[in-house]
Amino acid sequence: MRDGEKRFLGFGVRKAIQNVENVIAPQLTRMDVRDQREIDQTMIELDGTKDKSNLGANAIVGVSLCVAKVAADSLELPLYRYIGSANANILPTPLLNLINGGKLAATELDFQEHIVMPVGAKSFFEAMRMGTEVYLELAKIMERDWGRHSLNTADEGGYTPIGMKDPREAFDAELEAIEELGYRDEFVLGIDAAATHFYNEKKKNYIFMEREMNREQMIDFYEDLCSAYPVKSIEDPLMEEDFEGFAELTRSLNIQIVGDDLFVTNVERLKKGIEEGAGNALLWKVNQVGTLTEALDTAEFAYRNGYGVQVSERSGQTEDTWLADMAVALNAGQIKTGAPCRGERISQYNRLFRIEEELGKSARYAGKNFRRPL
Ligand code: PGA
Ligand code: ZN
Repeated sequence: MRDGEKRFLGFGVRKAIQNVENVIAPQLTRMDVRDQREIDQTMIELDGTKDKSNLGANAIVGVSLCVAKVAADSLELPLYRYIGSANANILPTPLLNLINGGKLAATELDFQEHIVMPVGAKSFFEAMRMGTEVYLELAKIMERDWGRHSLNTADEGGYTPIGMKDPREAFDAELEAIEELGYRDEFVLGIDAAATHFYNEKKKNYIFMEREMNREQMIDFYEDLCSAYPVKSIEDPLMEEDFEGFAELTRSLNIQIVGDDLFVTNVERLKKGIEEGAGNALLWKVNQVGTLTEALDTAEFAYRNGYGVQVSERSGQTEDTWLADMAVALNAGQIKTGAPCRGERISQYNRLFRIEEELGKSARYAGKNFRRPL
């Protein structure tokens, strides 16, 4: 919910804040902060709409996460323990988006994220050390092949190679950096295609690398890509309503296929996906659904149906570290929170280092088993 006024060019959030202070707060003041589900339910009923548009999903999600943090503090537990209990011990494999495209960057790349995953590391800290080295090595390649301006970073901290149009060029550059450091067997690649953004509604086709392509041509492209490159995870390979196409790709590629725009952390959409065999992992974004308990229900439903759960940032992430705690609380095995630069990304990684230290011997890094860490 944005104010839509002159202030902040329409992006102000005074209305949402007023809703927290004047509508939500009076209803919650006498409730026990540990009753997360009851509190979330109260807000859902108070709002009364399906998409939380009455009070604002931003108002509701903020309170929901705040309640969880206060409850954890009052019980003197770290947030990952309060939500995940005694069994939370898996440190996630990070999906590091090192080259940005699509809506996240002023580049000509159609895919939104060209990701490296340090699956061969022994710990989360080592994974981030290796990932950071690749990021630094990649800077040299970017500058050499794509010019100095390519070092400007985009929304999630990835580079923005000038003139690069083909995702294979992005992966070539990333693999060169990986190999230069001797990490060939330690890394796999990932993609968030965010294909809805290059799907043309009028033409009912994709406009990809300046060509019009139909579903089958896109599927062929992914199949070729996966036989030429060690790609092990693809998010939103097709537009967000194409459950059938997702199912076809999930059957033909033996890798992780993640639904973000496809599922939007919504149980009903996930259920449809499970019935049709569309994808095999859920992208988990709490603010897509609006309360913590609804998001936890969706994650639980995913697990019970053999789907993986990838805990995810937003491109408009803040420096608040609740997300890092949730990745461990859910034993999700994977977190996507951008390149190892920009403060709001580093905040999440630093928080995960602290959790890994705190867990000590019981900490386990998901590594290669990111989709099914248990
Ligand atoms: P968004 O990007 O936060 O802008 O949606 C992240 C993603 O698509 O996964
Ligand atoms: Zn996405």
